[in-house]
Amino acid sequence: MSDPTSVTLNIGDKAVSLPVHRGSLGAPCIDIGKLAKESGHFTYDPGFMATASCRSAVTYIDGDEGVLLYRGYPIEQLAKQSSFLEVAYLLMHGELPTRTQFDAFEHEVTHHTMMHEALKTFLGGFRHDAHPMAMLCGMVGSLSAFYHDTLNLDDPEQRRLAAVRLIAKVPTIAAACYRQSIGWPIRYPRNNLEYTTRFLHMMFEVPSEPLQLKPVAAKALDLLFILHADHEQNASTSTVRLVGSTGANPYACVAAGIAALWGPAHGGANEAVLKMLEEIGRPEDVAKAVEKAKDKNSGFRLMGFGHRVYKNYDPRAAIIREMCHKVLAELGVNDPLLEVAMRLEEAALKDEYFVARKLYPNVDFYSGLIYKALGIPTEMFTVMFALARTAGWVSHWLEQQVDPEAKIGRPRQIYTGATPRDYVPFDKR
Ligand code: ACO
Repeated sequence: MSDPTSVTLNIGDKAVSLPVHRGSLGAPCIDIGKLAKESGHFTYDPGFMATASCRSAVTYIDGDEGVLLYRGYPIEQLAKQSSFLEVAYLLMHGELPTRTQFDAFEHEVTHHTMMHEALKTFLGGFRHDAHPMAMLCGMVGSLSAFYHDTLNLDDPEQRRLAAVRLIAKVPTIAAACYRQSIGWPIRYPRNNLEYTTRFLHMMFEVPSEPLQLKPVAAKALDLLFILHADHEQNASTSTVRLVGSTGANPYACVAAGIAALWGPAHGGANEAVLKMLEEIGRPEDVAKAVEKAKDKNSGFRLMGFGHRVYKNYDPRAAIIREMCHKVLAELGVNDPLLEVAMRLEEAALKDEYFVARKLYPNVDFYSGLIYKALGIPTEMFTVMFALARTAGWVSHWLEQQVDPEAKIGRPRQIYTGATPRDYVPFDKR
């Protein structure tokens, strides 16, 4: 029986038959939906190590083979031949656009890039040293207060429009958060520029002089956006879906995704990598860092190393590594941290501890060095990730809205607290 359509679970003298589902690719999944009803047992899987939470046709990962497909297209091909905006269309719609469809999408995104003027007042309310992720999370969450007239989630056109608005406005908000933090006036989006170049202008152009950008800057950023656009049911996307499962509006869902992304075990890793490289400081000190990362009592992990799913290599890391060398060379940046990063990668890949645990550089190991070379400050790295991942989040949210099997997400627990006991008044405690 190599290809069963069901499996039987024996619990005491009860046999429960559980269906097995197969997707178009990937491991079969045992459907335990009826288990509790039929056997009185729940399953326990902290961190969802072996649990699929939904059916999805957006992105496929084969962690053992280092494969990443967006809607079936290998990430290597998209990185080489596509653009972030085309990838956003692909993720949202399931197919690559025709030229006419792409032009219409680009036009629509471009004409939704303005943010409501009232958001400037909101932005001004943050402390001068607020972390841009905190600002982004609050600002994106607040969008639902501006578009509640188009939040009928039963209307496919309103859902689509919300997704377009998010893809269009997150870069404007992200750049505004940065400029607020450094005391620069907000730069309005320029519609004559394409998506990534427009973002760089909103970030770096000052009113007093035009911005001179080397083409490699927008190209590199666009590539990073493509590579970060989606990654199936990761922590932040699952958060978006969990919040979405309650019927909450898409702005609230994406704000929740931004909050989940912020953690150092997820999107916050790119910021943590750069801080780690700066702390190591010199190639000679790499060996010490590797030893510290192996010491469980040190509380230190090699940031940008390891991945829940990839146990061979992260295909995005290979692409970014190559781009990192190219960008630094073309921008004429001589960053000593690149040498530290390369030595660290080399040392860890040779070390039995990392080899045995299948720990490889992930997408964030080199991305920070590219951001740094582009002049993007460390605190903005996770914001960059959020900007790109918005395309994935809205695509998953759209998919969830028409999923006939979607239910409110409501995990169970193994209760370990006190058994029933009587209340004790203060004077008797
Ligand atoms: N440095 C040192 N040891 C590590 C590292 C690391 N970066 N990552 C995992 N390990 C060790 C663990 O200590 C554990 O060792 P043990 O088996 O002896 O107890 C083993 O490898 C397995 O680690 P887990 O934490 O169980 O693996 P998990 O799949 O839960 O975690 C994670 C994956 C969170 C990415 C982890 O590898 C990590 O913390 N990496 C550093 C942070 C990072 O780069 N995050 C970005 C992830 S990619 C992204 O979100 C874009």
